[in-house]
Amino acid sequence: MEYRRLGRTGVQISKVSLGTMAFGRWIDEKASADILYKALDLGINVVDTADIYGRGMDNGNFDQLGESETILGNILKQKRKDVLISTKLNNRMGPFINDRGQSRHHIFRAVEASLQRLQTDTIDILHVHRFDPNSTFEESLRALDDLISQGKIRYIACSNFAAWQVAKAHGVSALHHFARYESIQAEYSLISRQIEQEILPFAKSEQVGILAYSPLGRGILAGKYSSANPPPKDSRLAAGEVKLKELIAQKHIFEYVDALDDIAKQIGWSLPQLAFNWVANHPDVTSAILGASKLSHLEEALKYVDHRLTNDELELINNAYQI
Ligand SMILES: NC(=O)c1ccc[n+]([C@@H]2O[C@H](COP(=O)([O-])OP(=O)(O)OC[C@H]3O[C@@H](n4cnc5c(N)ncnc54)[C@H](OP(=O)(O)O)[C@@H]3O)[C@@H](O)[C@H]2O)c1
Repeated sequence: MEYRRLGRTGVQISKVSLGTMAFGRWIDEKASADILYKALDLGINVVDTADIYGRGMDNGNFDQLGESETILGNILKQKRKDVLISTKLNNRMGPFINDRGQSRHHIFRAVEASLQRLQTDTIDILHVHRFDPNSTFEESLRALDDLISQGKIRYIACSNFAAWQVAKAHGVSALHHFARYESIQAEYSLISRQIEQEILPFAKSEQVGILAYSPLGRGILAGKYSSANPPPKDSRLAAGEVKLKELIAQKHIFEYVDALDDIAKQIGWSLPQLAFNWVANHPDVTSAILGASKLSHLEEALKYVDHRLTNDELELINNAYQI
């Protein structure tokens, strides 16, 4: 496993992170533990979760949010020292008006709740999950900076931000001597390349880490869906994942996926191996967050992850791009 510096920080993270959105939401604790321990054996040292991940994301039951963090807390135990935990706050966690966002009030409560579920006393990388138009950067960054001083967070990061929002936040951090967002978590895959416009050049210029999520397009780039057949019964599409439905509705998606599959075959890899390799070895990506709901997903994606695509292969991939 290759390790890379997270932005300008001194901490080294594996170029593959384990995403745990499936833990509790689509798979149980036993299956989650098998995947986590295999990931650690393979050298992965970052696990990514969020306060919100759990069945409640689909059924609206607030009591079933946080299940991913709870499972991680239960299964990490003595392995805790071997990994960096990345989690997130911002999304609605309860019925009351202040149960969401980036007010000082919610940030403090959300971090305490995550620490309890994770059964740990510090969060290594705390992300704000998205931009909160109802809190100022001064308020949220001061709260996060205070939590760093208290030892409850090590690094802060943001997710799903526009480049101008990260730049503005960095300005506020510099002005007040607060910690700054050292990393950006953003969707990036062969079917979601929007961050190439602003976020990737910004991150490179400012030495900010990039954690790329949904590198397999939530399963589309695993080749498990087609226009002709219904989704596999045990898949996230069959379970009704809304974001996945939106992605699959893109024009030409299956034509493009077929073209990528042909390229993968020419190289001698599977489509998920090609798609994952492309993200994990992108020069502007620090770590690609793989979502695995089966052990085999992890093993398949990592099999060729240290092989480099040639310039000719990269050109073939770029020429096929049609989203
Ligand atoms: N910051 C954010 O807003 C945000 C948003 C989304 C995700 N994330 C993070 O990023 C992580 C990864 O996201 P993701 O789960 O969408 O990533 P992904 O890697 O694009 O998709 C993972 C899904 O692809 C399918 N899959 C993977 N390997 C496969 C294989 N070899 N064969 C067949 N199917 C395969 C599985 O679908 P099935 O389970 O259907 O079989 C799996 O759940 C999440 O766990 C979370 O930590 C962050």
